[in-house]
Amino acid sequence: MKNGYIVEVKKLSKSFGDNQVLNDVSIGFVDGEISVVIGKSGTGKSVLIKNIIGILKPDAGDILYNGKSIYALDTQEYTQYRQSFGYLFQESALFDSMNVFDNIAFPLVEVKKIKDKRYIERFVNEKLEWVGLPGTGKLYPAELSGGMKKRAALARALAISPQILLFDEPTTGLDPVLSESIDELILRVNNELGLTCIVISHDIPATFRIAHKIALLHDTRIQFHGTPREAVAADVPMLKKFITNSFVSVDEVGD
Ligand SMILES: Nc1ncnc2c1ncn2[C@@H]1O[C@H](COP(=O)(O)OP(=O)(O)O)[C@@H](O)[C@H]1O
Ligand SMILES: [Mg+2]
Repeated sequence: MKNGYIVEVKKLSKSFGDNQVLNDVSIGFVDGEISVVIGKSGTGKSVLIKNIIGILKPDAGDILYNGKSIYALDTQEYTQYRQSFGYLFQESALFDSMNVFDNIAFPLVEVKKIKDKRYIERFVNEKLEWVGLPGTGKLYPAELSGGMKKRAALARALAISPQILLFDEPTTGLDPVLSESIDELILRVNNELGLTCIVISHDIPATFRIAHKIALLHDTRIQFHGTPREAVAADVPMLKKFITNSFVSVDEVGD
């Protein structure tokens, strides 16, 4: 693994028509670390993530996985690459028609093709316990609070035993207490399970609570990438604004 990067984005550009969202973006994500990408709404944070997981194709540039271009992988390797990611998106995206148990079992059955019912039951219950939702398998998503939905979605993301977990604004719409409990979960996923975490965030205090590395995406480019300590000292105007205004939402910070 070159440079310790599990995933490395190299000179990636992406436009939609006239809207250039990413321009020559390069960033490496160190194996075993929590990296947090910050930036205002609409700057392309989700577009960056979608390029990494292959939902979008870049116009130019490359993505390396363990030092190898994902565009040079054969079908089987590419499938493995896709399965090395677990995601937690803005909305938790549980299947409303399935109870919590079936939601978590779904990737085991559909992706991993596991048929052993007892294994599945043990695995799902273990994951539910791990995220702090023991005994909730029979509940339906509509019966869960916002925080419980996120936890259930995390349990489902863990079901394919990923190497990398992606969190796209996991605390958006949650109150501060719940947000902190999601931060704790991210730290536990990283500490106890050793997973690399890539988190997209809006929330500067939370970013400083959890990040090993912080990247700022602004105006189509990565304008800062470094440790929280380096972030505080960096002479990057937009980063300074975010930090000094960190008691307000980043979207309230002017240009
Ligand atoms: N599939 C798409 N087609 C066209 N434009 C898109 C698409 N996805 C994102 N965009 C545009 O790209 C820009 C960045 O979006 P996004 O990555 O969602 O921002 P954010 O930083 O809030 O996650 C926005 O201007 C958005 O309208
Ligand atoms: Mg987004």
